[in-house]
Amino acid sequence: MEKNELGFATRAIHVGQEPDPSTGAVVVPIFATSTYVQEEIGKHKGYEYSRVSNPTRTCLEKNLASLEGGRTSHVFASGMAAINAMCTLLKSGDHVVCTNNLYGGVPRLFNQILTNYGLEFTYVDTSDLHAVERAIRRNTRIVYVETPTNPLMTLSDLKAISQIAHRRGPELVVDNTFMSPYFQKPIALGADMVIHSTTKFLNGHSDGLGGVVVCTRPEQAEKFAFIQKSAGAILSPFECWLVLRGVKTLAVRMEKHDANGRTVAAFLSRHKKVKKVFYPGLPDHPQYELAERQMSGFGSMITIETGSLKNAQRMLRKLRVCFLGESLGGVETLISHPATMTHAALGEKGRRAIGITDGMVRISVGIEDAEDIIRDLDQALAAI
Ligand SMILES: Cc1ncc(COP(=O)(O)O)c(C=O)c1O
Repeated sequence: MEKNELGFATRAIHVGQEPDPSTGAVVVPIFATSTYVQEEIGKHKGYEYSRVSNPTRTCLEKNLASLEGGRTSHVFASGMAAINAMCTLLKSGDHVVCTNNLYGGVPRLFNQILTNYGLEFTYVDTSDLHAVERAIRRNTRIVYVETPTNPLMTLSDLKAISQIAHRRGPELVVDNTFMSPYFQKPIALGADMVIHSTTKFLNGHSDGLGGVVVCTRPEQAEKFAFIQKSAGAILSPFECWLVLRGVKTLAVRMEKHDANGRTVAAFLSRHKKVKKVFYPGLPDHPQYELAERQMSGFGSMITIETGSLKNAQRMLRKLRVCFLGESLGGVETLISHPATMTHAALGEKGRRAIGITDGMVRISVGIEDAEDIIRDLDQALAAI
């Protein structure tokens, strides 16, 4: 059977994860080597130096390209390293249109580092297609979208944006971290590149950082292989192995994340202490219809409005089963406070401009028993 005819869960386990030909080991080995012996000058087995390529990394890159439906993928030391690598495709004078509600570390990179190199960034509400169209200029090279956004869970219509971008010139790059390729396939909707922080759902166990860029065209693949070799922010063989192990259970984990996400969101939407719930799987989400059309599940990212910083503090202090911490997408329920954590770098004015309040609390619902998560949230909310 051709590999591309296999279902998602089968590809997650088998693509790039063939038994080791030299030993028969069922699990891809960690090739902890910096270099490779050569038989004579220019004669080797395809590997010369581990910054350029490493067999464990090759296996992961094949696997992630298959899961996203791309041509190749290239892994980096973190999600931010992957985003930074993608931006090195740009030249001074180029312009990028981006979602105005990105993970806070991304505008920090764009505004505080990359603008020093002559790049320009315009932030718009990419759920508004007219705003995207209006923001594109003659020198716009990339439209950069996160959907759903963090922490407001606003969706952008990827198919419509790819049509606008391709008619006007730029490429569409989508950060698919929140949904994982299990629930959302941006390339099938027209994206030119897909980015992930593999730190999140792809790894799934909160035990390693990583990032990936998935490409759709051979010339992009060549450029990213060159960037890995030249700039060197590659993912280590051990962390590649952790992601390879993580993706084997991606399908079952995402099903459970989604089931728990729906149950917890329904509970929170009925709770008296919760002023508002942001979750694309609730029928009163303003883009529920787009969520159903664009995603095959709603995932497990939920944001709630507690009303004030004091209320958020009161609640977060009381958590027992759920952990207070940055990050998301692990098997454990992780709760964060966007205003002081992921979006602190935006400053109060920046946060206010896009609607992030001090009372917001973001929940990455894990795969524990839903009843235990709910009981923990209920007793914590009682402190408000
Ligand atoms: C949506 C999104 N993209 C990118 C990143 C950056 O990834 P990393 O922390 O692996 O550098 C994050 C981190 O939280 C994220 O949430």
